[in-house]
Amino acid sequence: DWTMAAFREAAIARIREQVGKERVICGLSGGVDSSVAAVLIHEAIGDQLTCIFVDTGLMRAGESEEVVSLFRNHYNIPLVHRNAADLFLGKLAGVTDPETKRKIIGATFIDVFDEEAHKVGGAGFLAQGTLYPDVIESVSFTGGPSVTIKSHHNVGGLPERMKLKLVEPLRELFKDEVRALGRELGLPESFVKRHPFPGPGLAIRIPGDITPEKLEILRKADTIYLEEIRNAGLYDAIWQAFAVLLPVRTVGVMGDGRTYDHVLALRAVTSTDGMTADWYHFPHEFLARVSNRIVNEVRGVNRVVYDITSKPPGTIEWE
Ligand code: XMP
Repeated sequence: DWTMAAFREAAIARIREQVGKERVICGLSGGVDSSVAAVLIHEAIGDQLTCIFVDTGLMRAGESEEVVSLFRNHYNIPLVHRNAADLFLGKLAGVTDPETKRKIIGATFIDVFDEEAHKVGGAGFLAQGTLYPDVIESVSFTGGPSVTIKSHHNVGGLPERMKLKLVEPLRELFKDEVRALGRELGLPESFVKRHPFPGPGLAIRIPGDITPEKLEILRKADTIYLEEIRNAGLYDAIWQAFAVLLPVRTVGVMGDGRTYDHVLALRAVTSTDGMTADWYHFPHEFLARVSNRIVNEVRGVNRVVYDITSKPPGTIEWE
């Protein structure tokens, strides 16, 4: 892709000029945006870059390991991996309000990141994978009240607190362009095509309070759902697909016994930018297969429902 090849060259030159000989730290989330930003910056300034991956314990099954192996082993990019699951889960214990969850996760993330960045030491710049839609979403409408529908998605407040200058090489790009750039930089196709995943992770896919047991149930169900989507060849047609573990229990029968377990909701949407979305029309046989597998293979779930709400008026996530 000639456009992305040209963008890559120009972006590398810009990063070198902006950063000079200073050190840069970059927070990795496991998502496409921060990964592409990190690989691009590494290409520009090599080991002047250190990546920090704060593991919140709210990622999907196997995800943390993938991030670490991609960056450390495949790209050889200096990476600090901090497992902070106990800290995050401790602070979230008993918390049910969605915005409070986000605030706790955001604040804890900043604390941990700041701590790790100080250990790395001497950085002048913080790199972020901010995209163009993030830039416009954070500008409030003139004249109107500034309404926050959901508190800001990325790590707002971090650069001010750490007194760092920002490097944001993806600021002019939309999601599909970031994917094209990722390909241009040689990121694996499976990685480039990943569905977006929210910073607060599975915490906002468990309405009500979060426990290690619920996280475990959700991870198992989500893995089955995504596995079936990939097997059916539908992954790339969908913008985001995920399971939501509801704090509602219903009665079921299994063998001779009565069960009283969680309801699991499945969500899948198409979209181009996440601002609007349509629910995805799965074939009924597909939904039947996923439902059967989840109820049979995941202890703790005895009922599966499918979300047929578009955005607006629904949001993509349930919280
Ligand atoms: P909603 O649910 O608002 O989501 O329709 C739109 C897009 O944003 C993602 N999302 C978040 N991403 N932190 C994030 O980093 C958040 O708190 C957050 N909330 C929603 C959502 O997954 C979708 O891609």
